[in-house]
This record gives sequence, structure tokens and C-alpha cells, in this order.
Amino acid sequence: MSKLKNSMCIDDFMNRQLQERTDILECAWHKRQEDTDDVEDQTTGPRPNEELDHETLDLGEKKDIYGNVSKRAPNEFEHLNRFSILTVYFSWIVLLLFAYIREFLRKWGLENDKANKELEKQKHFVPLFSDFESVYSRNCYIRVRDVFERPIGSVPGATVNLIDRVSDDYNWTYRYPGTQTNVINVGSYNYLGFAQCKGPCADAAAKSIDLEGLSTCTTVHERGSSVSQYKLEKLICEFLKVEDAITFSMGFATNSMNAPCLVDKHSLIISDQHNHASLILGCRLSGASTKVFKHNDMKSLEKILRDSIAYGNPRTHRPYKKILIIVEGIYSMEGSICNLPAIIALKKKYGAYLYLDEAHSIGAMGPTGRGVVEYWGCDPKDVDIMMGTFTKSFGSAGGYIAGAKKTIDHLRVHSPTGYYSCPMSPPIAQQIYTSMSIIMGRDNTNDGQL
Ligand SMILES: Cc1ncc(COP(=O)(O)O)c(C=O)c1O
Repeated sequence: MSKLKNSMCIDDFMNRQLQERTDILECAWHKRQEDTDDVEDQTTGPRPNEELDHETLDLGEKKDIYGNVSKRAPNEFEHLNRFSILTVYFSWIVLLLFAYIREFLRKWGLENDKANKELEKQKHFVPLFSDFESVYSRNCYIRVRDVFERPIGSVPGATVNLIDRVSDDYNWTYRYPGTQTNVINVGSYNYLGFAQCKGPCADAAAKSIDLEGLSTCTTVHERGSSVSQYKLEKLICEFLKVEDAITFSMGFATNSMNAPCLVDKHSLIISDQHNHASLILGCRLSGASTKVFKHNDMKSLEKILRDSIAYGNPRTHRPYKKILIIVEGIYSMEGSICNLPAIIALKKKYGAYLYLDEAHSIGAMGPTGRGVVEYWGCDPKDVDIMMGTFTKSFGSAGGYIAGAKKTIDHLRVHSPTGYYSCPMSPPIAQQIYTSMSIIMGRDNTNDGQL
């Protein structure tokens, strides 16, 4: 009885904590919004005849730069007050001070030095350890190293087994007693819980090995892809309500290898400041001029668009042949949601193309999991390149690009992945097919409902 009471108390406590935190995010956003509105009011002066329509502009709605009303996500996070910032800096200074004191003690042999060092006989080589990096990892990171780099001994499902380890020398080395601890998994994507070794996805994937094997062991252009991959591409078209889709065996390569097929040195890419490394690599490999706009800042994006059209390419003084705006649906590090309606309005106004990376939003956003396009109620046809990965919500691997048939046909012919890499492994394609079917409710259950 007391156990039951205790667990109810914990549930209550967790619920309250969740509510508080969610409120904090919402409140911080509204507060920031009020502050900016106040500033705007002060600069534009009083507007006596303008009445705010509170009924249509509910708390989740916001006027964009063109005066269009759209839903706004609470993207802005808590303001840090000055005291917190100062205490964090102070703690860092103390930590680094002690780090340098210990380095000094080690140098003079007053403290035992267990770290890797440059070999004396290799002293004329370029140093392997950069100064600050090694001071940081020897003295600061090592103290908390036990929290990171934990070996995992199970499937990354809702919970994972951590392999236990014990250190007798302050995390320099570890002993493994051979036991494991089951903990809640907040370390991998698996947003919807499809990455399991049991259940309909795993069963269907295992069955597809019997039918199609593990790999075609050649490139797509040599031998084509599996039936599972073909069926998956058709299902993606239905899921995203687009004409055609192409899939690839790696999400990272989907961006880095295909962006260069869409633009060339006569084009301009306008990329969000916080875009993923795969997109940045794609921009570099394309040879196009690249300009970066401030994260999710529509004024900054519009300024770059306007200037680029007005002045053209500064090297050749000719207009760019194509302008491609690249954004993400949900940004992987910040968790912010892109302002898609405003970006679509800008791309239409300036005749640019839009590339949307939905790695983190597909499956997880929108009333039926169709991603950020559905979340904002936008038309999928307004996004020229819809990209996403299968590592997050679908518990699998690989990526897709979806859009107009012409665009996808172009990628089928020109993407280097078609010439030089293997198609998706059939069980991987089948896992995605089954999880996407569940999200779409094709398995005749409610399991896929958000
Ligand atoms: C925005 C974004 N795009 C692409 C990728 C690459 O996807 P994958 O890990 O499936 O290769 C990631 C990976 O986290 C990502 O966050």
C-alpha cells in the first residue's frame, strides 16, 4: 500500500515538474513576445485606431512580417539572468584555475601524471594534443567522464542496459564487474519507440531477410533496389502527399550528396546559421556561393534575398541562376521550430527554391505525424525539396528526398549515391515501411495516433 502511495506521489511530482517546465517555456516565449511588441509599439508610436483582435490572435498565433496571422511555436527559451551567467563563468574560472595548478604540479613531478603525452622521440612531429584541449580533458572532463561514454549492452529502446563499470583511479581506467543496469533511454532519437528487437517492425524486417536477403551488394544503377525499397518510396509519396520520393541508405549522405546535384557555381544557397553539418557539407561540395542568415530570423533572410537579387554575384557581377534556401523543420541542437509560413512567403516573393530538412520533425510533428509542413498547415507543394531521415521517428536508418516528379527523376539520374553506393538494405526498408504504415493507421490499430 505504502509502495503504491509512494509511486503515486512520484507520478504527481513528475507531472507537476513537467507542467512547470512546459509553462516556463511558454511563459518565456510570451514574455519575450510582449517585450518585443512593447518595443515595436514604442518605436512606431501609438496606433489609436488599431484594435487587436484577441479572438483570432490567440496565444499561439503571431503576425508575420507581412501582417499574415500564423501559428507560432514557443521557440524562445528561458532568459538567463545575470546572476546565473556570472556564477557559471565564475565556476568555469575556478575549474580552469585548478586545472592549470594541477598541470603545473604534474610538470614538476609533484603529482602523478597518467595522461597520454607526446613521445620524447617524436618531439619534432606536429603535436597530437592541442594545448587547451588536453588540459580540459585531463583535468575537467575526466572528473565527469563516468557520466559519458557509457558502454551500452542492449537495443536502444525506451530503456537501455548500461554495462556497469567501476573506477579506482578517478576515471582514468575502469573495471567491468560483468553486471548491467537498466535505465530510461534519453540518449538516442527513437522518438516514437519503433527501434525495438520485438514487435511488428522487427518481425516484418526479419521476414524480409528471408525473402530479399540483406543487401544487393552493388550500386543502384547496376542492379536496382529491393522490392521493399520500391514499396517504401511509394508509401512516402502517399504519406507526404507528393508526386515522387527517392530513398538513400544514409541520412547524412542524403543531404551532403544530393544538395550538390541541385545547385552549381552559378547558384546561391541561403542557409540557416544552425543547419546540420550534412547540409553544410552539401553546400560546400556544390560549389555554389553560400550566405548564412541568422537563426530563424526572417528579416535577416529577407535582407540577404533582396541584396543578392539586387547586386547579383559579387565575383561575376551577374545575377545568380538559382537561389536555394535551406532550413530544417526542427533544429537538432536548439529544438526550435522553423517559421515555415514566413519562409514560404519569402521564397515566393523572391522566386527562390526551398529545401526543408525534416530529420527531426517527420513522424513527430503535426496532428498525423506528417512533419512541420502539416504542423503549420502549409501546402507540401510549396516546399521544393522535402528531405528527412529514418533514424529518428522510424527507428531505422537512411534518408529520403520527396517532391515533384521532375526533381526526383533528376536526382535518380544525377545523384552520385546511385553510381557509387549500395541501395538501402531490405530489412531496413521494411522496418521503415512498417513503422510508417503504423503511423498512417494502415495496421488497423490506433497505435500510430499521436
Ligand atoms: C538535421 C539533420 N539532418 C541530417 C542528419 C543526418 O541523419 P542520419 O543520422 O540519419 O545520417 C541529422 C542527424 O542527426 C540531422 O540532425
